Amino acid sequence: MTDRDDADWGSTSLAPGWTPPNVNLKTDVPHSARVYDYILGGKDNFPADRAAAGDFTRSMPNLPTSMRANRNFMARMAHVVAAEHGIRQFLDIGTGLPTEPNLHEVVQKVAPDARIVYVDNDPIVLVHARALLTSTPEGRTAYLDADFTDPRSILKSEQLASTFDLDQPVAVSLIAILQFVPDDAIVQDVLDQLMAPLPAGSLLALSTVTADSAPEEIAAGVAAYGASGIPMVARDRSTVEGFFRGLEILDPGVVLVHRWHPDAEAAALADSQVYMYGAIARKP
Ligand SMILES: C[S@@+](CC[C@H](N)C(=O)[O-])C[C@H]1O[C@@H](n2cnc3c(N)ncnc32)[C@H](O)[C@@H]1O
Repeated sequence: MTDRDDADWGSTSLAPGWTPPNVNLKTDVPHSARVYDYILGGKDNFPADRAAAGDFTRSMPNLPTSMRANRNFMARMAHVVAAEHGIRQFLDIGTGLPTEPNLHEVVQKVAPDARIVYVDNDPIVLVHARALLTSTPEGRTAYLDADFTDPRSILKSEQLASTFDLDQPVAVSLIAILQFVPDDAIVQDVLDQLMAPLPAGSLLALSTVTADSAPEEIAAGVAAYGASGIPMVARDRSTVEGFFRGLEILDPGVVLVHRWHPDAEAAALADSQVYMYGAIARKP
């Protein structure tokens, strides 16, 4: 049995005495989830992550602001999708370390019966996944240790089958993960596979890094991430729009995340402080 098999403990039914699965954490090299956690003020990170965060922030002084803008986009997006589009099932891939409010907390405030399947491929997210499984009694949350680039393992998972009714629409959310999948053709193929079995009315929500708003900072930042062993890619608006092939991009289109249905905090930001595009689209 591998660590991953051992860790395949699935969904919401964690007993009070649950202990984290025995995973092999490589703590001496930086990891994107833990760097993000550190910059957002979290505690689930190691010296290598904190050192890398320092390097990245020197290259991209607006990185903390941009990451917070992304996290806030996630919360606004989840609220709009639940409250205005009536979606009750969410497949969130590249979830990251628990950071309040987590997606299920946002949508279950709108609809306590909402169901969420979280997916990430980082062992440290798996270790902390219990904090993602605090569903309302009416709803359900599950966690799956899987890779975005293996959509079959997501679509065929026990977690998906036992959590969702696939006759009903699903919102697939990919928030700040696609910059770590540099090959556009792979991203497109996976998106097509993920959306294919979902019924009409399902949504795709994503955010990903762009250099359009701050080209010099992002050129330096992409180089700094690469030098730390984290390949990252910045994409222009038309490439991001292309990822929604076959879907109807909804108002206001592909925009910098602080411009997507902004609240007061987002409205106060300048474009040059935000390095992420975001959008949602509907399957016709
Ligand atoms: C920057 S964090 C974003 C977290 C959260 N979605 C947010 O926006 O606040 C990126 C997350 O994507 C995960 N990730 C990166 N590549 C992945 C892959 N190929 N499959 C699954 N998860 C991946 C990382 O482990 C990390 O937790």
